[in-house]
Amino acid sequence: MKIPLDRSPDRTRRQPIARQIQRHVERLISQRLLAPGVKLPATRELARDLGVNRTTVALAYDELVAGGWARAHVGQGTFVADQVPVEIEAPRPESPRFDWTGFLSKSAQVIAADARRRLSYSQVPQPAPGVISFAGGMPDASLFPTDAFRRVLNRVIRDEGRELLQYYPARGYPPLREHLAGYLLRFGLEVRPEEILIVNGSQQGFDLVARTLLDPGDFVAIEQPSYPRAMRVFRAYGAQLLPVPMVAGGLHVEYLERLLERQSPKLVYCQPTAHNPTGLSMSAAARQRLVDLCGRHRLPIVEDGFDGTLFYGERPPAPLKSQDASGLVIYIGTFSKILFPGLRLGWIVAAPELIERLETAKDLADIHTSPILQAAVFHFCRQRLLDRHQARVVRESARRRNALLAALSRRMPTGVTWTESQGGFSLLVTLFPGMNAVTLLEQAVQRGVAFSPGNAFFVDGGGEHTLRLSFSGIPVTQIDEGIKRLAETIREAQRQPERPARLEEPPAVPLV
Ligand SMILES: Cc1ncc(COP(=O)(O)O)c(C=O)c1O
Repeated sequence: MKIPLDRSPDRTRRQPIARQIQRHVERLISQRLLAPGVKLPATRELARDLGVNRTTVALAYDELVAGGWARAHVGQGTFVADQVPVEIEAPRPESPRFDWTGFLSKSAQVIAADARRRLSYSQVPQPAPGVISFAGGMPDASLFPTDAFRRVLNRVIRDEGRELLQYYPARGYPPLREHLAGYLLRFGLEVRPEEILIVNGSQQGFDLVARTLLDPGDFVAIEQPSYPRAMRVFRAYGAQLLPVPMVAGGLHVEYLERLLERQSPKLVYCQPTAHNPTGLSMSAAARQRLVDLCGRHRLPIVEDGFDGTLFYGERPPAPLKSQDASGLVIYIGTFSKILFPGLRLGWIVAAPELIERLETAKDLADIHTSPILQAAVFHFCRQRLLDRHQARVVRESARRRNALLAALSRRMPTGVTWTESQGGFSLLVTLFPGMNAVTLLEQAVQRGVAFSPGNAFFVDGGGEHTLRLSFSGIPVTQIDEGIKRLAETIREAQRQPERPARLEEPPAVPLV
């Protein structure tokens, strides 16, 4: 630790050395530069570093303990206290702070503008106690098979730790890629392990695809509404988004066809199965038409297949990738919803020559995804623990989804409509035209219920009178009460005289 000490010979004009050390450490603690519980340097060590007597440092430490800044443990040393007294104001910097704004890249500026725009229109409050929140969209952590995963992880570290804690090839752990090839066969996807690249979640998949295929000024056609994080990645690489509306459960293929007469997008992004936010799936016939259309126009498709396993009732048709003879579909999958999102583990399936490019981009971005975690997930799958967990998640999600649909039918005022979610974890509600979901959210939170305003899922505005309800994180026993509160909020908002007149706006997504 470096402590600037005033050692001027005139002792009347400076603080004693011990006091200077004490004050310096107090400031480090109060400004959280030294966190609670951190061990302070041994007195001998600090005395040597500062060139002072050891008893001087010991005196400073005694004062820190006496003042409640630190606690001493005999034989172990002195530690920063868990609760510290008062915050000491940080000294004003002598020179002006370096201004980074002029240095930000175009991409950073786009990202910042996007973040500001999001803040301005869709502030989902942190769930407060007593608020039933349909906002999150995260899996329910109380269902996580953490103990089973810990046991598998321990075994992997014991048996393969030496090899897997080393640097590793970017393509990924071969047994996991082989396992994934078998796993994807269940959905009708025939893929060889060399066509699979392991990535840090779908999010990295979008990023690698964007940096490999997009240049600033390119267009990306995207179904609307859509997954905001995917939109943000494409925008960050300078692309402009061309929204394509949804019809009957999926991207409106004929609309896209007309769009292609005027525009030449570089990619089309879609979620044909268990779409977020609507929970809808595209029909087999529409999938075939989309693949054929894109084949004719040589337009690559990014197929986000993130939740193909979570479906309720009828099994969705096979992924677009299964009908892709020429290799223009890039399929991106993830373990986030079927296991743990915190693993950051996903995969890209694409033509071998593209996988090679994506692998190079990944190598540059982060060298590789944690091999230890890849191996643990592989063994977890091989022991059929994932199948067991998945069955439980599907059962529980189906109960919640059914309870939500029943509560909506029972409680919602006539005129409010919603998508009949067939998969995933959410559905989209369409309010009365002219009713604003952001304003409604403030009133809803006061009544003890929260949701995500729908405009976050729309390209540059639109969807103001929609909201997303996510059912993955709410116990089934709270769903009816939550929807009762929401319906009351909507009725109340309808009665408010200052509400703008109902506009004759078409619904944001067609109702099924
Ligand atoms: C449409 C969509 N794609 C992908 C993901 C998962 O992303 P990741 O694998 O990065 O956790 C989500 C998560 O909510 C999603 O909604």
